[in-house]
This record gives sequence, structure tokens and C-alpha cells, in this order.
Amino acid sequence: MNKLPDFPWDRLEPYKERALAHPDGIVDLSVGTPVDPVPEIVQAALVQAADSPGYPLTHGTKGLRESAAGWLRRRHGVGVEQHDVLPLIGTKEFVAWLPTYLGAKRVVFPELAYPTYDVGARLAGAAGVASDGLLALGPQHVDLVWVNSPGNPTGRVLPPEHLRKVVSWARERGTVVASDECYLELGWEERPMSILHPDICGGSHEGLLAVHSLSKRSNLAGYRAGFVTGDPALVKRLLEIRKHAGMLMPAPVQAAMSAAFADDVHADQQRERYAARRTLLRPALEQAGWTIEHSTAGLYFWATNGQSAWDQVSKLSEIGILVAPGDFYGSAGGRHIRIAITATDERIGAAVRRLQ
Ligand SMILES: Cc1ncc(COP(=O)(O)O)c(C=O)c1O
Repeated sequence: MNKLPDFPWDRLEPYKERALAHPDGIVDLSVGTPVDPVPEIVQAALVQAADSPGYPLTHGTKGLRESAAGWLRRRHGVGVEQHDVLPLIGTKEFVAWLPTYLGAKRVVFPELAYPTYDVGARLAGAAGVASDGLLALGPQHVDLVWVNSPGNPTGRVLPPEHLRKVVSWARERGTVVASDECYLELGWEERPMSILHPDICGGSHEGLLAVHSLSKRSNLAGYRAGFVTGDPALVKRLLEIRKHAGMLMPAPVQAAMSAAFADDVHADQQRERYAARRTLLRPALEQAGWTIEHSTAGLYFWATNGQSAWDQVSKLSEIGILVAPGDFYGSAGGRHIRIAITATDERIGAAVRRLQ
């Protein structure tokens, strides 16, 4: 294992304290944790499965796998066999362990990215390469490439043509592509596509994995629920390792996950909540001097006022607003901040008034 980075959020503590001291309280737009209720049908499914004394299956129930596969088909035009769905105890654990599962020696991830891609490479003792230009990587073999569209932190949607190029580049070299699609349902000005869509992958899932989370779609960050699917041979290998390692999703959470993927009404309602918050917050940030870049999808505004990331964090903390500095996501983010829209309507309203 290579040395792990310092936990970045600890560095935000002094700014959090300053924001907490605001007379009307903190507006925390930093971590991006969901704040709206867990949908009632999902809570009911969890409670109904509360009496679950036996060990659950690592592969999950057939009902859960069918529900997840049905959602992918219905909402995203992607066909997978229920057998090729593998539940995850939230997707972060999988992101952190995938390079280890694959025995990877070299892992590529976006220049501005969710920090756990880098952590996963380190846990595997692999070289982690932050690069958006696969063509510039040189001849050395790459075992795994991460793509993340819509992306964290930038809210950028990769064009279908770009995704097609990644797939063919990887297939020529025997590289696995893992596509982190946890914001797939949160396209605002663009419609994101799964890497497993036939128009992207040409109908074959060979060498491809797509990772999906319910944390954002269904406010289930607290339940820890997601899944991976794609290349049947890869999923089979992952299932085998996870069986041995005891990576079991609790049975009540499996029931909750089945209910969440079977229902779109709650997900559409949640989308509306986020859309309304975006509509309020965006002009307030722009009028206060911030330029918003990308951010056509996902749960964040990627913004800059030209100053250093930490000066921007400091300035906003003085009016009680806590945001994340862009350099948490890579050195290319040194002049940006990431502002989450995951706060209650009341807190977003408070942020808008303070920015004015
Ligand atoms: C890009 C990305 N991937 C994965 C995750 C992990 O999500 P979870 O572990 O809640 O499924 C997050 C969480 O914010 C994320 O932003």
C-alpha cells in the first residue's frame, strides 16, 4: 500500500467554525450530503425486511438485481442481465477497492476528480495517474481507467464521442474502463449517457463496468446502497472476491434498494427540488462575482472569482457559507470552489440573501 493522503475535510475545520459563528447559522454547501427525507416507500421496504436473522447473499436477492436492471433499461436504455448486477455497500467502498480486486499496477483517473480514485490506486500499491488525455499517456500498460460523467467536482458531462474514444482506446489495450455514473439522473442542461448504452459501447460490455449509487437519486447515502454491472466475466470475478471478503449488503437495505429502483416518482420529485435550488443559487453566485463553469449536470456548481480557492472559501465563510476548495479534487482546481446544492430550501434561501 502507498501512503494515504491527509483526510482533506479536516483542513476545512477553521472555516467551518467561522461559518458556524454566523448569527443566522451555517449554510453548509461543502460535503454535498443529501438532506431531504428518505422516500416513504423505501423506508417501508426497509422496515418490512427488519426481521432478517440469516446471512444475506453477496450477490443480493434476485428481486434487487431485477429491480436495478429494470431501472437501467427503463431510464437509461441499457440492457443488462439481472445476473450481472452486483450490490455495493455504497459505491465509495468499491471505488476504493476496485484496483485491488483487479490487481492493477497503473490506474488513470480524471485530472479533477473524486479523491477516492487516487486512494484506490494507493491502497492497491498501484501508480495513480491523473490525466484527461489518454493519448498522451505513452506506451506503458494501464490496467484501469476511471471516467465520471456527470463529473464531480465540475458537473461536466462527457460527450458521447469522447466516451466512445475511451472505450475503443481501452479495448485496443486490454484496459478495464470503470464508469462512475452516480449522477446519471441529474442532468440539467445536458442528458448524460451510460457507458453501457449501445450507442457508446457498440452493444458489447466487454471490459466495461458501470457504477451506480442510490445516495443522490433516492437520498440513501445513510443506507449505503449502490451496484456495479457490465462485463459478465468481470462481474463474476468481483462477486467471487467479494464473497470471500464478506462484502455483504444487509438484507433490509437490499429490500429498500429494490423498492427505490422500482420507483421513479420519488426520484423525479427529488430532481425538482434540486432544480429549484439551482435556479435560486446560480444567479446569486453570479451577481456576487462568481463565474460558473461546466455544471450542466450533477449536484454542484464549479465556480471561480479569480482568487485562490482558499481565499474564496474564506470569503464565503465570513457570511456563514461553507464550500469546498477546488484543490481537494486536484491541483488544477486551485482557483475554483465547489458549491453543493444539497441543502434545505430554507438554507439555500439564507445563502441567496447573504450573497445579495
Ligand atoms: C463521483 C462520486 N463517486 C462516488 C461517490 C460515493 O457515493 P456513495 O458511496 O454514497 O455511493 C461520490 C459521493 O459523493 C461521488 O461524488
